[in-house]
Order: sequence, then C-alpha cells, then structure tokens
Amino acid sequence: MLVRKIRNGTVIDHVPAGRALLVLRLLGITGKEGYTVAVVMNVESRKLGRKDIVKIENRYLDPGEADKIALIAPTATINIIRDYKVVEKRQVEAPETLTGILECINPTCITRKPREPVIPRFRRVPGERLRYQCVYCGTIIEEEEILRQLTGTQ
Ligand code: CTP
Ligand code: ZN
Repeated sequence: MLVRKIRNGTVIDHVPAGRALLVLRLLGITGKEGYTVAVVMNVESRKLGRKDIVKIENRYLDPGEADKIALIAPTATINIIRDYKVVEKRQVEAPETLTGILECINPTCITRKPREPVIPRFRRVPGERLRYQCVYCGTIIEEEEILRQLTGTQ
C-alpha cells in the first residue's frame, strides 16, 4: 500500500500509466484549491500492466467531468468513498455523442464560423480506438487531438 485509504472523496483508479497528471489538469486541480490529493504513478496492475491512481479527498465528480475522464483515461474506474467504504464503483464510458466538449479541427466547418453560433457536436466512431466524427462536416478527431484539446498538452 503506497498511499493510505481516504475517508471521503473520489478515487480514480485504473488510469493508463502516465495519465494521472492529465486527469488532475482536466479537473482543474492545481494544488491551490486546498484538496488533499494523492497521485500514484506506474504501479503494477493485473489488468493494465501499469496504472496510475488519483485520490481526491472531499471532491466528487459531476457527469461532465466523468465523460471527459473517459476520453483521456478510457480504462478508468471511478470509486466514490464515504466513511472509508467504496459506496459506488463505476467504469467510465466514452459517450456516444459529445456536445460542446471538443472543437472541430476543420477550419471551414460551420462550427468554426464566428457568425454562426453552432455548437460543435461529434458522434463516436465505432471501433477499438477512441475517435469522434463531426456531425456537420464529417471530420474525424483522433485520440491525440482529443488529449491536446482537453489538457492542452502534446
Ligand atoms: N480506496 C481508498 N480509500 C478507501 C477505499 C478504497 O483509497 N477508503 C481505493 C483503493 O486503494 C483502490 C480503489 O479505491 O485503489 C478501489 O478500492 P477497492 O474497490 O477496495 O479495490 P479493488 O477491489 O482492488 O478495486 P477494483 O476491483 O476496481 O480493481
Ligand atoms: Zn466539423
């Protein structure tokens, strides 16, 4: 046991190795908010080989945050802890449609026209890889672009 159990809060487990800090960034947690946070990186996992874990005391996720975590950490499990017990365990799931979360990368897409207030919408492309297609112009957004947009990295 690398870090202690938490009393109340959220444990984001089975995060792909190397993505824990991206999860924190996505949640807007910089350390200045005062939450007690534990990050475990590159620990052994039976399912994944290596994984990261993020524990945040007294912080719970809204559904939009859970959706975004699904996009950058598709294997993650969200555990809600109350009084030291796991009271809820949920496998994140990449949403079938995304509204207003990603931007289309096609500069001529209607969603990019400053005068047309069209909110970007994407549909998930079936398959192993995480890919989304713009419903307006058909452009496909790949995983690296999703990461770049959600976390400002890469
Ligand atoms: N955890 C914690 N504090 C608690 C309870 C659990 O930090 N009071 C953490 C555990 O360390 C683990 C995660 O929350 O990383 C899920 O806990 P649990 O369901 O007990 O572990 P597993 O059965 O190993 O989970 P899974 O089946 O999802 O791998
Ligand atoms: Zn588009």
